[in-house]
Amino acid sequence: MKTLVTYMTQTGNTKKIAEAIYETISGDKEIKPLNEVESLENYGFTFIGFPIHQMGPPQIASKFIETKAKNRKIALFVTHATPLGTPFIEPLVGKCKECADESDMVGIYNCQGVLAQQVADMLLKVDNPRLQQFGKMRDATVGHPNEQEVENARNFAKEIMEKL
Ligand SMILES: Cc1cc2nc3c(=O)[nH]c(=O)nc-3n(C[C@H](O)[C@H](O)[C@H](O)COP(=O)(O)O)c2cc1C
Repeated sequence: MKTLVTYMTQTGNTKKIAEAIYETISGDKEIKPLNEVESLENYGFTFIGFPIHQMGPPQIASKFIETKAKNRKIALFVTHATPLGTPFIEPLVGKCKECADESDMVGIYNCQGVLAQQVADMLLKVDNPRLQQFGKMRDATVGHPNEQEVENARNFAKEIMEKL
């Protein structure tokens, strides 16, 4: 059965990881944006990627996982502005995991993605201190996902395919 890599992206970070995963997997495969996926009927396995928006998955992504991906084997890949190794990562990843049944979720990958300048400018103007904080940390996100993070995503894809 075909493997699907599907993703949503606003500024390209998650797409970069999606393409690395797609290039790594072998066999019958397809890559396409999440909003173009009607159904997962024709796929044996799906990698689903999205950026973190406001401390969790964007609603489009969580709805997709809860409805179209229900009772299907999936792996998630997620990009976010939060640096790895900080205590804020676990709750973010936890919120992503909550979207699917544990038995359907084969694995989850996450890495940092640059906060686009225009997004940082926009967040700095929002009347929400938490979002303003993200706007301020743009400098620490420049260059991500970097080569190592792309390589880690490839290794993640390999490990997932071996598990199936
Ligand atoms: C509206 C908005 C809210 C965001 N909120 C968060 C957040 O709560 N935590 C975080 O780590 N990153 C947050 N980010 C940063 C993105 O998750 C990060 O830049 C991601 O890599 C973007 O992926 P993309 O280029 O595929 O759209 C936010 C970005 C936007 C646009």
